[in-house]
Amino acid sequence: SERLDGRPQKQRLLVVANRLPVSAVRKGEDSWALEVSVGGLVRALLGVNEFEANWIGWAGVNVPDEIGQRSLTEALAEKRCIPVFLDQETVHQYYNGYCNNILWPLFHYLPLPQEDRLATTRSFQSQFAAYKKANQMFADVINEHYQEGDVVWCHDYHLMFLPKCLKEYNSKMKVGWFLHTPFPSSEIHRTLPSRSELLRAVLAADLVGFHTYDYARHFVSACTRILGLEGTPEGVEDQGKLTRVAAFPIGIDSDRFIRALELSPVKYHIKELQERFAGRKVMLGIDRLDMIKGIPQRILAFEKFLEENPDWRDKVVLLQIAVPTRTDVPEYQKLTCQVHEIVGRINGRFGTLTAVPIHHLDRSLDFHALCAIYAATDVALVTSLRDGMNLVSYEFVACQASKKGVLILSEFAGAAQSLGAGAILVNPWNVTELASSIGYALTMSAHEREKRHHHNFMHVTTHTSQEWAETFVSELNDTVVEAQLRTRQ
Ligand code: G6P
Repeated sequence: SERLDGRPQKQRLLVVANRLPVSAVRKGEDSWALEVSVGGLVRALLGVNEFEANWIGWAGVNVPDEIGQRSLTEALAEKRCIPVFLDQETVHQYYNGYCNNILWPLFHYLPLPQEDRLATTRSFQSQFAAYKKANQMFADVINEHYQEGDVVWCHDYHLMFLPKCLKEYNSKMKVGWFLHTPFPSSEIHRTLPSRSELLRAVLAADLVGFHTYDYARHFVSACTRILGLEGTPEGVEDQGKLTRVAAFPIGIDSDRFIRALELSPVKYHIKELQERFAGRKVMLGIDRLDMIKGIPQRILAFEKFLEENPDWRDKVVLLQIAVPTRTDVPEYQKLTCQVHEIVGRINGRFGTLTAVPIHHLDRSLDFHALCAIYAATDVALVTSLRDGMNLVSYEFVACQASKKGVLILSEFAGAAQSLGAGAILVNPWNVTELASSIGYALTMSAHEREKRHHHNFMHVTTHTSQEWAETFVSELNDTVVEAQLRTRQ
């Protein structure tokens, strides 16, 4: 069964990301409990009927034995997931080390680790070796499952080496790579010891995508400045081979949030929250507990606001949901302590016997509770120091059709480029400005709130994740693989 353009009805897509959308917990020697995590990427591809998406990624657990690996592979197959088994040492060096202690901070403009330079340099080399080894392991699994006509879509900073490994296996394979974080200015990227090798490996892809035009431009400049290649409006050219580079801003499945608000458990939960915080305005911060999210800056600004506005002290509450993440990386452990310390101090300072100004939770919420809390919020605070896009801002907007609450949004989040006109844009490093934005948001007229909300709601409901995935894959389909070009000439 073929369509007019000659492609099969349902194209097989191999979606490759470090983490599978399913997490596995071992229940016995060969039995597993699987929990599907419906993150942004999964939802994006669920909504796209044109493709049959198969996932390849790390299962997030250490499975050293063959029985375990075989049984987990079988269990995951039912969810169209194929696991890559990484041993503990590789996870430590690749995931905790190179990915989350080097690349993640650097791509968010936090410089490479300074302390103990010699030790850092030595561990850097072994971490980079583990990174390449892990990427090669992903490539081996993909190669084993690849069928002619498949499109391979690689995701994120964990897998920058993958396009090169895949093309070495099969130069005809269609390979796309998308970065979910910012790509920093070439001045930042050039501090990375493995700067050239990484860029060249990414350029092996047929299509390279970013959330914003700025990130795409930074990538092209890095290739021209560091590798001496030619940047064109289409992408980067190397000896006649063009790698297409473009911006594809991601969105959310807004309908799913809007529909959830009609469900009775969600309505009930909203009512509960309203009663619990009656007479007080609700402010919300919700993120993975990550240094890029500007959580201490946000809380300090809230403290400053309370300090300067004593009348507000018993009239506003900040709900801070901080989902623990990457807890084996020391920087994340330090941040957890720092946030707990600040929250404790502020609650001690402004709390009473019956109420505290900050409710801080170290855990995630299920989907219904999440929608309810978004809907019951008056002011959302997204204060990222840098953020690829930030979909919390989108989710908040999707859930605010009745309340028309205010979004305070960092100008350093990719979302500032799409929701900037409706949000109050802030520089999160400027605690004074952030504190006064809180005051402005809390007292904003209904008319202004409505106008701002309308702008953002229109954007969020028309620029969805489905559209994002479709656009990327159809553009990838339209690229001409170099090997094909050569045979045609
Ligand atoms: C960011 C990254 C994703 C990553 C997610 C959760 O959004 O761009 O690739 O999966 O954080 O982080 P984790 O380390 O738990 O996978």
